[in-house]
Order: sequence, then structure tokens, then C-alpha cells
Amino acid sequence: PAADNTTMFIFGAGGDLVKRLLIPSLYNLDRDHLIDPKMRIIGVDLAEHDDDGFRAHLKQFIADKAADNHSEGRGSALDESHWCEFEKRLQYLQGDFTDEAIYRRIKDTIASSENDNAIFYCATSSRFFSEIAQQLGKAGLLTEQGGNYRRVVVEKPFGHDLESAQALNANLLEVMKEDQIYRIDHFLGKETVQNILVARFANVLFEPFWNNHYIDHIQITAAETVGVEARAAFYDKAGAMRDMVPNHLFQLLAMVAIEPPAAFGADALRSEKSKVLGAIRPWTIDEADDNSARGRYEAGTLGDRRVPGYLEEDGVDADSQTETFVTMKVMVDNWRWIGVPFYLRTGKRMSARDTEIAICFKPAPYAQFRNTDVDRMASNWLIIQIQPNEGMWFDFQAKRPGPELEMDTVKMGFAYKDFFDLPAVTGYETLIYDCLTGDQMLFQRADTIENGWRAVQPFLEAWSRKSGTGKSGIEGYAAGTDGPSGAHELIQRDGRLWHKVGEPTGPGVA
Ligand code: BG6
Repeated sequence: PAADNTTMFIFGAGGDLVKRLLIPSLYNLDRDHLIDPKMRIIGVDLAEHDDDGFRAHLKQFIADKAADNHSEGRGSALDESHWCEFEKRLQYLQGDFTDEAIYRRIKDTIASSENDNAIFYCATSSRFFSEIAQQLGKAGLLTEQGGNYRRVVVEKPFGHDLESAQALNANLLEVMKEDQIYRIDHFLGKETVQNILVARFANVLFEPFWNNHYIDHIQITAAETVGVEARAAFYDKAGAMRDMVPNHLFQLLAMVAIEPPAAFGADALRSEKSKVLGAIRPWTIDEADDNSARGRYEAGTLGDRRVPGYLEEDGVDADSQTETFVTMKVMVDNWRWIGVPFYLRTGKRMSARDTEIAICFKPAPYAQFRNTDVDRMASNWLIIQIQPNEGMWFDFQAKRPGPELEMDTVKMGFAYKDFFDLPAVTGYETLIYDCLTGDQMLFQRADTIENGWRAVQPFLEAWSRKSGTGKSGIEGYAAGTDGPSGAHELIQRDGRLWHKVGEPTGPGVA
């Protein structure tokens, strides 16, 4: 099991994230005997609860969710007897994070328990991150002595732009050291994301072709069918770019584009990521404008369901200037990638749920088959399917049987489900476990975060100058489609096409 003698304090314990992801992950880790029997989990929030009320509130939600999933064939129903054991770890402290009093009570709680190690998990709205860190510092709660540890987990969004991200980093680093800060990006908890490094660096097959000599361009897509859900208060201020690009999509880009780290360790890996994000070409504001497009979903049909447009969703401002879809082209200026465009896109209410990295290789240099010229030959593609239908697939050319020499695109692939059981987990298990064991490999370092924001800053500035109209204005797209026409123009202008969202990838995948 992971480190013993730990108490995890969760600020914002009444929030959605805690019941949807954090507590279920801690429960899964406990079920798999991966946390120490003495570990305690203490929820901190404003709402009035006693320990039992807090436990009952979580149990109700988690049991209902597990039952729903189970009836849809995913995972199993909540194990009552195990929950009874697990919930003994849970306690609740009622208080205001902006008031010193709660930090004194936290201090007393630690002093009166056997656990000297503490993790402070900021699952609150991002506006409290700095305040919580400062208060923890002031109360002496971040001082590590006698071999104990004090760690702070910070959720997204990490800043709103470059300046606010820098300010937040500076605030955190004023009261603690970088090795105490765990900035979460839940994409890094996904098996398929971690596997990109294993595929690249534990095999000899990929790396010789993984550069601008062989790769024509790379597409990174995170398409969702969900809309804004009940998150308008957050999302309408953030939008697709801030919500997904400097964090999740850039983490995918970094995993695909980094150089092999010099050692297997958090610092070596994070330095490579920081370098590659730092090598993203800083567009001028006009270039950023030309190399991006934004969209907002309108009413449309998803499967057999009619869904409303973004502006009709509860809590969305009628004059909203928020995009629900964004696409951009970025260039990575280093020896490996010079000249290889990375096209990124993400959106809500698209035709299918599909997170993938599509790598398009250059055509064969010469086609010696009759009636075939290189320009007409289809490219080789490697599709890294992050979710759903997790796996990796190659598209390549094969001879179609018959007297004529005709070619067809065929697929060769690896589906996770054919080799491994992908357990029904939230993706947070690995991250929480790593935080308990002090492994920062899958957490973001200050410089990586800032390099990410630096690369998106010109786009944010281009849009803020011309919000509403013009090229950087927001174009509508019907729910259930793959984004506005500007997204297609962006890539077609370079003589390329998007890999189709939700296209069945693997053999046998319907
Ligand atoms: C979150 C975003 O970080 O990631 C959400 O705030 C988005 O808007 C989600 O839906 C996507 O994560 P996943 O794991 O469902 O692909």
C-alpha cells in the first residue's frame, strides 16, 4: 500500500468532483488494498454536515451511479460491506476556507491524530486556490519536518491566461516547494495516454519514423457529445480553449512530440514536456487569428434526440461570447518537428465521443505500380485511440485480390480489450496513488503550465480584440456535427482533411 500515516483534507468536499471522481477513486484504491489502513479522508466545506451526514451523502450518490453503470453493463454495483469499511475513513470539518479558524482546526486534527503526513486537495473553485495555499502556509501546515510530508493538489483550471497562471504559480511557490505541488490533469491518469510513451520508447518500430522525414502532419481531436451539462457557471467563463487546450490537448501533444527523457523520472520527463511546449511557435496575433477557428453549438440532433443550442442552455448568458468548439494549427519549432503541422480540435455536442491522435505519414517516395502515381496513393495513418475503443491502428495499402493491380486501405491494430482488462476506474486512481507515493511524473510542473499558456495566449488575444464578428468570431454548428465550416477550411487550405470523428477504427469495432 501507498504511504502510511496520511490524512487527506479535501477542500470543496461538497462539490461535484468529489462525489463523481475523488471519493470513488479512493474507494477503488481501498478495495484494491492500495491505501494504508490508517489513512483518513476529511472533507472540508461550508455546508453543515456531521461525519455521518457526509458519509450518507456520498454513499447515496456513488451507489446510484454504480447501479446505473451496472445496468448499462459497466462496472459492478456498490459493495455495501466494503463501503461500510471504507466510510470509517471519512470525516467532515465544516468551515470557510477564507477564514483562519478552519486552518487552526485542521492543525489540531493533525496534532491529535497518529498521521503526520497530510495532503491538501483543492477541489474548490479555482478562485480559492491561492487563498487556501496562503492560509495553509500561514498556519504552518506546509512545513515538512522529521521526514513527514505536506502536499497540495491543485485541480484545473490552473489560471485563466498566462498572467494569471504565472501569478498562481508565484503564490503557491511563495509558501511551498515545487515538489510539494501536484497540479492535476486527469488526461494523464488515462491508461491510453500513459501508453503513448511506452509505445514510443519501449519499441524500436515507431521511433525511426517519428519525425519530419516521415510524418506529414498530426491531428489531435477531443470530440464530445455532451453539451455544457450543469456547468454553465464555470464553462461560460472558460470556453473550449481554456477548458481543454493548454491542459488536456497539450498533454497529448507533449506525449507524442517529446524527445526520449534522459532518465525515467518525474523531472526528466517533465523537462522534456516543458521543452516541447516551449518550442511551439509563438504566433503573432494575426497569425493566431488565421490559424484558428471557433464555433458554438446550435440546436440539433444527436442519435434520435433533439438537443438545444448552447445559448438556450440553463445558466448561459444570452450575450455569451464563449466558444464550445475550437480548432487551431500549431507548429513545433525543433529539429524533429519543423515543418510538421499539429492540428488540434475539441468541441462539445459533436457527432461522436472520440479522443484520438491521428498521425498522417508522408506518401511513399515513388510508386512503381502501373496506373498509380504517388499523388493518388493513400497515406499511411497511425491512429492512437485514447477513448472509446481504446487501441492503436495502422492504415496501410494492400493489393486487392484480382487480375488488376488495385490497392485498398487495410488496417492492422491493437485493441486494449483483446489483451487487457481495462478496469472500470475513474482515471483518478493512478493520480491519487502517485500523490500518496510522492511520484510527480504525471503531474504538471510550473514551467509546463506556463509554456502551455504562452502558446495559447496569442489566440486568446486575437479573439478578445475581435469578439463577436470577423474571422475570429464564433461560427455556429448544429449539434451532432463536427464543428463549423471554418474548422474544415483551416485544414483544407493546407490540402488536408480531418480524420473522421468517431470513424470505426479497429478490426471488429462496429
Ligand atoms: C474536463 C473538462 O477537464 O475534461 C470537461 O472540464 C470535459 O469539459 C472533460 O468534458 C473531458 O474529459 P474526459 O475524460 O471525459 O475525456
